[in-house]
Amino acid sequence: MAGAWASASAVLLVLALTHLGEAVVYFQEEFLDGDGWKKRWLQSTHDPNFGKFKLSAGKFYGDAMRDRGLQTTENSKFYAISSRFKPFSNRGKSLIIQYTVKHEQKIDCGGGYVKIFPSDVDPENLSENSYYYIMFGEFKALIFVDLRQGSLMLF
Ligand SMILES: *[C@@H]1O[C@H](CO)[C@@H](O)[C@H](O)[C@H]1NC(C)=O
Repeated sequence: MAGAWASASAVLLVLALTHLGEAVVYFQEEFLDGDGWKKRWLQSTHDPNFGKFKLSAGKFYGDAMRDRGLQTTENSKFYAISSRFKPFSNRGKSLIIQYTVKHEQKIDCGGGYVKIFPSDVDPENLSENSYYYIMFGEFKALIFVDLRQGSLMLF
Protein backbone atom coordinates (compact mmCIF):
# COMPACT_ATOMS: atom_id res chain seq x y z
CA MET A 1 0.00 0.00 0.00
CA ALA A 2 1.24 3.44 -0.82
CA GLY A 3 0.18 6.55 1.02
CA ALA A 4 0.68 10.19 0.19
CA TRP A 5 0.93 13.01 2.68
CA ALA A 6 0.18 16.53 1.61
CA SER A 7 1.52 16.03 -1.86
CA ALA A 8 0.69 18.85 -4.22
CA SER A 9 0.69 16.52 -7.16
CA ALA A 10 1.59 12.88 -7.17
CA VAL A 11 2.39 10.23 -9.69
CA LEU A 12 3.34 7.06 -7.92
CA LEU A 13 5.23 4.19 -9.39
CA VAL A 14 6.49 1.12 -7.57
CA LEU A 15 8.45 -1.44 -9.49
CA ALA A 16 11.01 -4.15 -8.91
CA LEU A 17 13.94 -4.96 -11.17
CA THR A 18 15.02 -8.56 -11.57
CA HIS A 19 18.72 -9.42 -11.80
CA LEU A 20 18.37 -9.55 -15.57
CA GLY A 21 17.13 -5.99 -15.62
CA GLU A 22 13.54 -6.44 -16.69
CA ALA A 23 11.07 -4.58 -14.51
CA VAL A 24 7.79 -5.71 -12.98
CA VAL A 25 5.45 -2.82 -12.23
CA TYR A 26 3.51 -3.44 -9.02
CA PHE A 27 1.74 -0.15 -8.73
CA GLN A 28 1.28 2.82 -11.00
CA GLU A 29 -1.02 5.81 -10.71
CA GLU A 30 -1.25 8.57 -13.29
CA PHE A 31 -4.76 9.90 -12.56
CA LEU A 32 -5.79 9.68 -16.19
CA ASP A 33 -9.36 8.41 -15.78
CA GLY A 34 -11.33 11.35 -14.40
CA ASP A 35 -12.96 10.48 -11.08
CA GLY A 36 -11.66 6.88 -11.24
CA TRP A 37 -8.98 7.65 -8.64
CA LYS A 38 -11.71 8.04 -6.00
CA LYS A 39 -12.30 4.28 -6.17
CA ARG A 40 -8.58 3.50 -5.83
CA TRP A 41 -7.59 6.06 -3.21
CA LEU A 42 -9.09 6.27 0.26
CA GLN A 43 -8.82 9.42 2.35
CA SER A 44 -8.19 8.53 5.98
CA THR A 45 -10.85 9.48 8.52
CA HIS A 46 -8.47 8.95 11.45
CA ASP A 47 -8.64 12.68 12.23
CA PRO A 48 -11.78 14.65 11.26
CA ASN A 49 -9.50 17.67 10.74
CA PHE A 50 -7.51 16.00 7.95
CA GLY A 51 -7.72 18.04 4.77
CA LYS A 52 -9.22 16.67 1.57
CA PHE A 53 -7.35 16.03 -1.65
CA LYS A 54 -8.75 16.89 -5.05
CA LEU A 55 -7.59 16.12 -8.57
CA SER A 56 -5.91 19.04 -10.32
CA ALA A 57 -3.15 19.94 -12.74
CA GLY A 58 -2.52 23.02 -10.61
CA LYS A 59 -1.74 26.55 -11.73
CA PHE A 60 0.97 25.61 -14.19
CA TYR A 61 1.47 22.42 -16.16
CA GLY A 62 2.73 21.00 -19.42
CA ASP A 63 -0.41 19.03 -20.28
CA ALA A 64 -3.75 19.75 -18.56
CA MET A 65 -4.75 16.05 -18.51
CA ARG A 66 -1.46 14.18 -18.13
CA ASP A 67 -0.11 16.44 -15.38
CA ARG A 68 -3.04 16.03 -13.01
CA GLY A 69 -2.45 14.70 -9.53
CA LEU A 70 -3.69 14.88 -5.98
CA GLN A 71 -3.76 18.45 -4.77
CA THR A 72 -4.19 19.67 -1.21
CA THR A 73 -7.19 21.99 -0.81
CA GLU A 74 -6.42 23.96 2.38
CA ASN A 75 -3.37 25.38 4.10
CA SER A 76 -2.25 24.33 7.60
CA LYS A 77 -3.85 20.88 7.40
CA PHE A 78 -2.59 17.34 7.57
CA TYR A 79 -3.56 14.98 4.78
CA ALA A 80 -3.53 11.21 4.56
CA ILE A 81 -4.62 9.18 1.57
CA SER A 82 -3.66 5.73 0.41
CA SER A 83 -4.10 3.25 -2.39
CA ARG A 84 -3.78 -0.51 -2.15
CA PHE A 85 -1.70 -2.82 -4.31
CA LYS A 86 -1.24 -6.57 -4.17
CA PRO A 87 1.39 -7.64 -1.62
CA PHE A 88 4.69 -8.64 -3.24
CA SER A 89 8.26 -9.46 -2.31
CA ASN A 90 11.25 -7.84 -3.95
CA ARG A 91 13.65 -10.37 -2.41
CA GLY A 92 16.79 -10.43 -4.54
CA LYS A 93 15.56 -7.57 -6.71
CA SER A 94 16.01 -3.82 -6.61
CA LEU A 95 12.90 -1.91 -5.62
CA ILE A 96 12.23 1.45 -7.24
CA ILE A 97 9.63 3.85 -5.84
CA GLN A 98 9.15 7.22 -7.42
CA TYR A 99 6.68 10.07 -7.22
CA THR A 100 6.41 13.62 -8.40
CA VAL A 101 5.57 16.61 -6.21
CA LYS A 102 4.92 20.15 -7.34
CA HIS A 103 4.85 22.93 -4.75
CA GLU A 104 3.00 25.95 -6.10
CA GLN A 105 3.15 27.97 -2.91
CA LYS A 106 6.10 29.22 -0.96
CA ILE A 107 6.03 26.78 1.92
CA ASP A 108 7.11 27.89 5.40
CA CYS A 109 6.34 24.60 7.03
CA GLY A 110 5.21 21.45 5.36
CA GLY A 111 6.10 18.59 3.15
CA GLY A 112 4.86 15.82 0.92
CA TYR A 113 5.75 12.23 1.67
CA VAL A 114 5.21 8.80 0.24
CA LYS A 115 5.11 5.87 2.60
CA ILE A 116 4.92 2.19 1.83
CA PHE A 117 2.90 0.29 4.43
CA PRO A 118 2.45 -3.38 5.31
CA SER A 119 -0.63 -4.89 3.64
CA ASP A 120 -2.50 -5.13 6.98
CA VAL A 121 -2.59 -1.35 7.52
CA ASP A 122 -6.10 0.06 8.05
CA PRO A 123 -6.47 2.69 5.30
CA GLU A 124 -9.43 4.39 7.01
CA ASN A 125 -7.37 4.86 10.17
CA LEU A 126 -4.18 5.89 8.44
CA SER A 127 -2.18 8.42 10.46
CA GLU A 128 1.35 9.55 11.23
CA ASN A 129 1.39 6.70 13.79
CA SER A 130 0.70 3.95 11.26
CA TYR A 131 3.61 1.53 10.97
CA TYR A 132 5.38 1.76 7.61
CA TYR A 133 8.32 0.16 5.79
CA ILE A 134 9.63 3.03 3.69
CA MET A 135 9.12 6.77 3.82
CA PHE A 136 10.64 9.52 1.77
CA GLY A 137 9.86 13.01 0.62
CA GLU A 138 10.65 16.62 1.22
CA PHE A 139 10.12 18.48 4.47
CA LYS A 140 10.62 22.17 5.11
CA ALA A 141 10.16 24.00 8.40
CA LEU A 142 10.83 27.36 9.96
CA ILE A 143 10.12 26.65 13.58
CA PHE A 144 9.30 30.21 14.71
CA VAL A 145 6.74 30.65 11.92
CA ASP A 146 5.46 27.18 12.67
CA LEU A 147 4.73 27.92 16.34
CA ARG A 148 3.21 31.35 15.72
CA GLN A 149 0.77 29.90 13.23
CA GLY A 150 -0.09 27.13 15.66
CA SER A 151 0.65 24.33 13.26
CA LEU A 152 3.06 21.55 14.02
CA MET A 153 4.41 18.84 11.81
CA LEU A 154 4.34 15.59 13.75
CA PHE A 155 6.88 13.58 11.80
C1 LIG B 1 -6.21 3.82 14.87
O1 LIG B 1 -4.81 3.78 14.93
C2 LIG B 1 -4.28 4.08 16.21
C3 LIG B 1 -2.77 4.07 16.11
O2 LIG B 1 -2.34 4.91 15.09
C4 LIG B 1 -4.77 3.07 17.23
O3 LIG B 1 -4.28 3.41 18.50
C5 LIG B 1 -6.29 3.04 17.23
O4 LIG B 1 -6.73 2.01 18.06
C6 LIG B 1 -6.83 2.82 15.81
N1 LIG B 1 -8.26 2.95 15.79
C7 LIG B 1 -9.06 2.08 15.19
C8 LIG B 1 -10.52 2.41 15.22
O5 LIG B 1 -8.64 1.08 14.65
